[in-house]
Amino acid sequence: MSSIVSKQISSYTERASWIRKMFETGMQLKQKYGNDAVYDFSIGNPDLPAPPAVAEGLKEILKKAGEPFAFGYIPNAGSPWAREAVARHVAKEQGVAITKEEIILTCGAAGAINALFRAVLNPGEEVLVPAPFFAEYCFYVENFQGVFKTAATNPDTFELDLESLEAALTPKTKVVLINTPNNPTGQIYSEKTLRELADLLRRKSAEYGRPILLAADEPYRTLAYDHAVVPPLLPLYSHTIVLNSFSKSLSMAGERIGYVALSPDMPERHELAAAILMTNRILGFVNLPVIGQSIMVAAIDSKVNVDIYERRRNLMAKILKEAGYSFVMPKGGFYFFPKAPGGDDIAFIHRLQEELILGVPGTGFGCPGYFRLAFCVDESVIQHAADGFKKALRHFEPEK
Ligand SMILES: Cc1ncc(COP(=O)(O)O)c(C=O)c1O
Repeated sequence: MSSIVSKQISSYTERASWIRKMFETGMQLKQKYGNDAVYDFSIGNPDLPAPPAVAEGLKEILKKAGEPFAFGYIPNAGSPWAREAVARHVAKEQGVAITKEEIILTCGAAGAINALFRAVLNPGEEVLVPAPFFAEYCFYVENFQGVFKTAATNPDTFELDLESLEAALTPKTKVVLINTPNNPTGQIYSEKTLRELADLLRRKSAEYGRPILLAADEPYRTLAYDHAVVPPLLPLYSHTIVLNSFSKSLSMAGERIGYVALSPDMPERHELAAAILMTNRILGFVNLPVIGQSIMVAAIDSKVNVDIYERRRNLMAKILKEAGYSFVMPKGGFYFFPKAPGGDDIAFIHRLQEELILGVPGTGFGCPGYFRLAFCVDESVIQHAADGFKKALRHFEPEK
């Protein structure tokens, strides 16, 4: 009998069955040994408390809760006063003069990416992404019959590799999607490389006779360490679209508050804004959550205590280094992406599970041979996992 589930989604579930298996093993370990005995570095769910301005914003909402339409539908692009607040915020972050007409509020960065792809992709058009990449991207592209293509990054630094990007561009490339600071590598692409990327895209757009869009997915922008600066992309390239959210900066991932910011230099920006407003609606998002929208505006100038993430990063680096792992120090975000000892990332993640440590194989991010550890967990969890990390590595690389 034929399945009621579509072939495409059935194939996704099959393809991702090892992810499910890992997840199930993690759950079983937690049930057997208790949550606290398992060191869970598998999930990027921001655990830091939201800044106090978030609670203040929520109190203000309560005062108005009895008013008509307090929680009713709002315009598809978000309330004009909230779009204005985000425009001021983006102007500061990106160093460009931008107005609310170039801002569309969305259900998180994930909603922003889907609304953008729905607005611009014709079936068969390509989205080019440097690998490793956030695993959901390929689903987002295929949601709209786009073709997901990847290009390698520098294996020693995970910095963009312009040659490999150029080789992967074709007349069908509609969007180049980059993510900085990067999930899973923690790399922040340098301004020099981004300028070179902008030059490459201008050259190729001229050659193909139509603009290649540069989509910059930046939900980790505020999580940068050692005073690192995340170079703004809107000033660099006229066809840039920034996709961002307050999931990490305000620890509000469950409230689903994000936005699309279109370059004020893009000649087609009003047409594209109207298209994204439409897709945000017809994809069923309709509008972003109203409570989250108000909280976001009240708290827009604050952020979580990034020093805490930085301390955890430093502790994790010390522990991994002492154990003998090979990794690139993350400059931002909250992930490590070390090399998997022995080379087989799935086998290594299984070995880590024997030490009650949960991580994710690099295969899921288009980069076998590595594994991802999320450090949005308490310092004590990182500390207590130290022995397990050592033992797991020794299994594959016995001490000489
Ligand atoms: C690289 C990247 N992009 C987008 C998202 C989606 O974030 P949001 O909660 O803003 O939808 C995530 C979530 O972890 C992410 O890691």
